[in-house]
Amino acid sequence: MCGIIGIVTGHPVVTGLISSLKLLEYRGYDSAGIATMQDGQVWRERAAGKLANLEKKIKDDGVSEGGIGIGHTRWATHGAPTEGNAHPHIVDNVIIVHNGIIENYAELRDELIKNGANIQSQTDTEVIGHLISNQLKIDSNIETAVQTAVGRLTGAFALAIMIKGEENLLIGARKGCPLVVGIGDVEGHYIGSDALALSPFSRQIIYLEEGDFVFATRQNFRVFDQAGTLVTRDVNHVEVQSATMDKGNHKHFMAKEFFEQPDVVQKTLSHYLDMKSNQVTLDSKLDISKFERIVMVSCGTAYLAACVAKYWLEENVNMSVEVDVASEFRYRKPALNEKCLFVVISQSGETADSLAALRMAKNKGCTTLAIVNVPTSTMAREADIILPTFAGIEVCVASTKAFMCQISVLAALSIGLGVQIGRLSHADATSMAKQLAQLPRLINDCFAVEKDIVKLAHEIANVEHVLFLGRNTSYPIAMEGALKLKEITYIHAEGYAAGELKHGPIALVDENMPLIIIAPDNEVYEKTRSNIEEIAARGGDITVLTTQKRAKEIQKLGLKAIALPDCSSFLAPFIYTVPVQLLAYHTAVHMGTDVDQPRNLAKSVTVE
Ligand code: F6R
Repeated sequence: MCGIIGIVTGHPVVTGLISSLKLLEYRGYDSAGIATMQDGQVWRERAAGKLANLEKKIKDDGVSEGGIGIGHTRWATHGAPTEGNAHPHIVDNVIIVHNGIIENYAELRDELIKNGANIQSQTDTEVIGHLISNQLKIDSNIETAVQTAVGRLTGAFALAIMIKGEENLLIGARKGCPLVVGIGDVEGHYIGSDALALSPFSRQIIYLEEGDFVFATRQNFRVFDQAGTLVTRDVNHVEVQSATMDKGNHKHFMAKEFFEQPDVVQKTLSHYLDMKSNQVTLDSKLDISKFERIVMVSCGTAYLAACVAKYWLEENVNMSVEVDVASEFRYRKPALNEKCLFVVISQSGETADSLAALRMAKNKGCTTLAIVNVPTSTMAREADIILPTFAGIEVCVASTKAFMCQISVLAALSIGLGVQIGRLSHADATSMAKQLAQLPRLINDCFAVEKDIVKLAHEIANVEHVLFLGRNTSYPIAMEGALKLKEITYIHAEGYAAGELKHGPIALVDENMPLIIIAPDNEVYEKTRSNIEEIAARGGDITVLTTQKRAKEIQKLGLKAIALPDCSSFLAPFIYTVPVQLLAYHTAVHMGTDVDQPRNLAKSVTVE
């Protein structure tokens, strides 16, 4: 979602602003802009579309450097992604960029218009600029004026602000959206949406807390909390390698990231699994005997990881497991109490709805467990227990390796809890842990299907709709296949429970409807096989993802089949994820869509 950078160093800032914005590109955006100040003048440049458009405008118009500046990549919420709506916004003396959504923006806007304000854009951000500007007219103390004006906002925001004439003052504020402060490796201070954005300049990072304001100069900075009290926040030494933003030999980050899966799964598993003794070790604070049920909440691909885990946890822990998308869960009135283990899963650890669900569960007395990839994220800091994934930075908007690491942790969790509760014997647990240890090799072997998948992708690139089907843990993998495909190719796709097809969607089946059927050779294979026959009888264009042996049988029926490595039922979700990721990728490459930054999408969804 939107990216923010602010720099106050006294030295030319334009190159730094642009390099930070490039590091923030992965979050997703549809316009960008920067503003700098020098000798009492404000210089601003904005452009719709990619950063290259902004860079061109900066070059064409001639750069006016300054020793202070703010920059922004905007993912549109209020108002189309035009140059006029792009940030920074300038209202009198106030120059502002914003990430988030101001919920009371309409009433504030009406009030401002009633009082004669000339509102130029359709954004909620400009309203904040007016509020601060008005407050500065009645309170010349910038710190209190900004805090008072921002105090009127409801909703979620991270802000970077400059005040005309104050060339040694950079202001930041956050509530609901992340914002960090960087202490310069040489003189100066920085604010940004994440530590990655500040990685060219700073390793000393402060994670602002909910409701914090920061007032930074070249020489020092002051942080105030929500109540306006001057506070001290911890300084963290963070090594974020901007080099990890490199695609290596790959054409796209997505390819780089899914080929990293054997390594990152190994890295993640080795945190939970003793490869010698085949024992699973979990956080010692986690005691399953305290709970009567497990509630898992997340969004998008992370939600589908929870759906896979539901099968494992129910089987291995014998406990009721409820799974929901965070945007629904947080507005329901679920029965939660201290007997409930609440699990949130998130790559970014910042997704607004998942974070709100975590806070709601905490308020209701649940023990909260976060499976997160960003260890410094808000969820990692707020949950009672953290089970980290070690996927490394995931740049492509479509999640691949983070998902694989999430299900790795969840598989280990189901074994560890199963042993704790006595449902799994040590022998069972050892056997399952041994299976997990084979994953890096097996995932690697899956890439052998790439040639077959490329062929299928070229066919899929010509269609408008695709159905993915699966039973048991292959059902969420079918949904993941559909999600990946629609996300990066814009082809309409749905993931369905194979047995549910005849209750409606089978009406869609004819020779023009491609169906990708995920059918590992497991306890429900024969059931899926019956569904395959039902679809074949209606002329559907079937491709079955299955084992070598089953693929031969399917091909004898005159249907297409792609053979994956043999694996246990437990490992099937990992193995069958690879071909659906490859299918989405190669279809997108063939169609020429923007694989790493698909339209309308953002990597870190910090608005609800
Ligand atoms: C899909 C995708 C999204 C995310 C979702 C949750 O490929 O990446 O659906 O999974 O936005 O994000 P996190 O995991 O950061 O909470």
